[in-house]
Amino acid sequence: MTESLTVRDNRTGLEYEVPITDGTIRAADIGQIKPAEDQPGLAVYDPGFVNTASCRSSITYIDGDKGVLEYRGYPIEQLAEKSTFLEVAYLLIHGELPSREEYDTWVHNVTYHTFVHENVKGFMEGFRYDAHPMGMLMASVGALSTFYPDASNISDPETRDIQIIRMIAKMPTLGAWSFRHAQGKPYVYPDNDLSYTANFLSMLFKMSESKYEADERIVKALDTLFILHADHEQNCSTNAVRSVGSSQVDPYSAVAAGIGALYGPLHGGANEAVLRMLKRIGSKENIPSFIQGVKDGNERLMGFGHRVYKNYDPRAKIIKKACDDVFEVTGVNPLLEIAQELEKIALEDEYFVKRKLYPNVDFYSGLIYEALQFPPEMFTVLFAIGRTPGWLAQWLELTQDKEQKIARPKQIYTGARTLDFVPAAERWA
Ligand code: CMC
Repeated sequence: MTESLTVRDNRTGLEYEVPITDGTIRAADIGQIKPAEDQPGLAVYDPGFVNTASCRSSITYIDGDKGVLEYRGYPIEQLAEKSTFLEVAYLLIHGELPSREEYDTWVHNVTYHTFVHENVKGFMEGFRYDAHPMGMLMASVGALSTFYPDASNISDPETRDIQIIRMIAKMPTLGAWSFRHAQGKPYVYPDNDLSYTANFLSMLFKMSESKYEADERIVKALDTLFILHADHEQNCSTNAVRSVGSSQVDPYSAVAAGIGALYGPLHGGANEAVLRMLKRIGSKENIPSFIQGVKDGNERLMGFGHRVYKNYDPRAKIIKKACDDVFEVTGVNPLLEIAQELEKIALEDEYFVKRKLYPNVDFYSGLIYEALQFPPEMFTVLFAIGRTPGWLAQWLELTQDKEQKIARPKQIYTGARTLDFVPAAERWA
């Protein structure tokens, strides 16, 4: 039986039957409801797309009420424990787990493409001495489109594939160089003998030693963090990638837009904001007055709350465990105590309970990043590296989705109409 919705327009007394598919109705069907034939059809007003699906997707499943996250059907807990970031990246992009041969080729290709054109290095060196690494990353990824003009041929599957490999491969190089820049340290070239994540750590921290080999526990923890960030369905930055990508621009430009969206404090910038918040709170004694400030609406408890999760963010649970592994190597971050106490108080407080505000992925990740000696400005860069396969999988899906059109929302116009323009000379006379 086809499910449907019967709508009665009380302006006209007419009734309409609107089909329901996959728990949604089509906005275009609502558009047929008009007060008169020559009037505009009914539209839906939904700032922030709170209850509007923008696409059909088979990449990531989230059940926010139950705290479930799956990539291509595989639970995040299993992937975080048993997979690697590059395998997860393959899964997201290709839709299935790789055979051994496919995996080896994939890893080889990504490793082979870690280097960037020397001119990229040249222009990155031109940024101001204290440039925020996210600004550098966004600009550099956008600039890659000028190095690969073939990327604009987005209807060619082979061209699409190579850009995807290039972007996943080069993101750690650009991210690491953005980090070294503000520190006034020389940029380190990729070491292709190392794994994806170990190579990233080498480009970040290598100094005069001939080879930089990070502690395996740190490599694993960072790799896990990348997995946890790899995709999250239609979040703000993915929506930006899809929205910009819908103009059929090349993927570097679309991903640069995603990086811009991720930069904001309500999205990827939240982990940086969490750390600043914990430092500002300073000690456990100051938590009650801070919580009161949040309840009075003077500030937000950063790292809490989520548009989709109305239960514990499953990624936050895994990160809490990764904290233990990292702190075993680095020593405990003193801010952990404040974070844990803050979480305890917030989870019992009626304000947070009523609004279903739980720790999200950003609440604990900043503590790990700081223990790994990343300055807060770098946290979002780490998020961006992890999210890159997700952005690209979503972009790829978009390019092959026949239902997609250029993103172009409607508006409700609230301004003046048909004013008569009086030239400046007359107005000011
Ligand atoms: N601290 C205090 N109050 C909050 C918070 C918070 N972190 N988050 C939501 N609320 C309150 C909000 O004031 C509102 O209360 P009321 O109903 O009285 O007006 C209610 O909870 C609903 O919040 P909302 O702002 O309507 O929810 P949203 O879905 O638009 O926002 C959010 C989601 C993540 C932007 C928001 O929870 C927030 O700003 N959190 C802090 C920033 C943060 O941690 N962001 C990282 C998100 S996870 C990583 C990612 O995907 O980027």
